[in-house]
Amino acid sequence: MSLTGLFLCTFLIVHLAGNLQLFKGDEGRAFNVYSHFMTHNPVIMTISYLLYASILIHSTMALILTRHNQASRPVKYAYQRPEANSHWTSRNMGILGTILFIFIVIHMRTFWFTMHFGPIPMVNYDGEEYKDLYTVVSAAFSNGLYVLFYVLAMAGLSFHLVHGFQSGFQTLGIRHKKYSPMIEWIGTYGFGVLIPALFAAMPVYMFLKTHGFIG
Ligand code: HEM
Repeated sequence: MSLTGLFLCTFLIVHLAGNLQLFKGDEGRAFNVYSHFMTHNPVIMTISYLLYASILIHSTMALILTRHNQASRPVKYAYQRPEANSHWTSRNMGILGTILFIFIVIHMRTFWFTMHFGPIPMVNYDGEEYKDLYTVVSAAFSNGLYVLFYVLAMAGLSFHLVHGFQSGFQTLGIRHKKYSPMIEWIGTYGFGVLIPALFAAMPVYMFLKTHGFIG
């Protein structure tokens, strides 16, 4: 779980960097050219299959582990005060992960499925045809409820990653006086704050743009 989880964290950084092109204000040209590259480059296509496998392995292992934990203690402790020695996020990784899994399925249905199987409008840049994924993204995020769903899902992502990122290193046995504080800092502020906040800003920005609040 730690290896697939950390791989998914790496994917998030790349995915975020690519999607930041939505903010470019060029009517989606850079974003469409980038998406074209990502869906046609053989190395990236191979990494994508690894990504799909990682999502499935990570979720399945989580389910198996949760079942195993429940089965090993069928009778609950009479006195429980879990907040005394563990954080809320670490005790709710299963529910947070389930929310994220549902998010990923809906997200991939909206964008990935349309990109690969259509229908999708086409756009011409310098005589070459590109799939206009930018228009698909604009249309999806013109819906306020869909935007709200994304913002709430990104809050879930934040809580999941605050615990998940550092836990991934802990499971691999990487605990060191010098490096652990740095890992915790990256987990808290990078994966817990910056990455989810930038992802959440995208649907909000596209909503404001499609409704004429920003130019
Ligand atoms: C909120 C801002 C986000 C936007 C605007 C966005 C946009 C997109 C788009 C347009 C695609 C289709 C790309 C293609 O098929 O070429 C895509 C694919 C995908 N997205 Fe996102 N995404 C966002 C956040 C996320 C988050 C937070 C996750 C994970 C928790 C995620 C997971 C994925 C996955 C797994 C794919 C399939 C990637 C592949 O086929 O290689 N996305 N996203």
